[in-house]
Amino acid sequence: MSRKFFVGGNWKANPTTVKETNELIELLNKAKITANVETVICTPFIYLSLVKSKLRSDFAVGAENVFNKDKGAYTGEITPPMIKDLGVTWTIIGHSERRDILKEDDTFLASKATEALKAGLKIIYCCGEHLEERKAKKEKDFVSAQIDKLIPAISADKWDSVVIAYEPIWAIGTGVVASTADAQEMGKTIRELIAAKVNPGVAAKLRILYGGSVKSDNCKDLAAQPDVDGFLVGGASLTPSFIDIVNSPP
Ligand code: G3H
Repeated sequence: MSRKFFVGGNWKANPTTVKETNELIELLNKAKITANVETVICTPFIYLSLVKSKLRSDFAVGAENVFNKDKGAYTGEITPPMIKDLGVTWTIIGHSERRDILKEDDTFLASKATEALKAGLKIIYCCGEHLEERKAKKEKDFVSAQIDKLIPAISADKWDSVVIAYEPIWAIGTGVVASTADAQEMGKTIRELIAAKVNPGVAAKLRILYGGSVKSDNCKDLAAQPDVDGFLVGGASLTPSFIDIVNSPP
């Protein structure tokens, strides 16, 4: 089963000005993309309209987060229909920074997934263990439990709109990238879990990304792994090296 390679850029809370945002858009608009890859640029909510209006159309735009209700008395929240209405097609859900800093749990995140898919958005659903679980050799149990909670939230006809990003927390922003063997092993574990608990057809089509200190000098080896179908890139998505990462599939 061939799966189209997927690269997400997650700008996080960078940039912080319109000027910086325009500079990033300019960088992407002049980039030469040689690979057959689906690229999604995820930006802070406040810059989504700007990026959507100026970014070349072969790059999709995504939000970094979304609320779990469609509308109502939820002061300050951004709901899936609002994002969809801008022409934005993707949203990240469950990034570890939201899980750990904002204490968003699996149940809440699963409800976000349901609501986002209902509104017609596609989702990049993040999972990944802390160093503590990795050291205790419990990383597979930890990640499997996260995915177990997601599965009932996705109806059978929506799995085509889901990408899973495995991001070990100890690798995020640290410069310590997972080994190709570890990234492959977790990708395979997630795929086997989906095959067993959803069905083998969905598992075969599902794209499973790796995220955590992906750089231009480590992306090619990671991209060559059979169960690494792409990347979710933080820091490097703010630099010209992001284009090398987009062009990394074999
Ligand atoms: O969403 C992206 C991940 O948090 C990875 O970030 O590439 O800066 O390690 P990083």
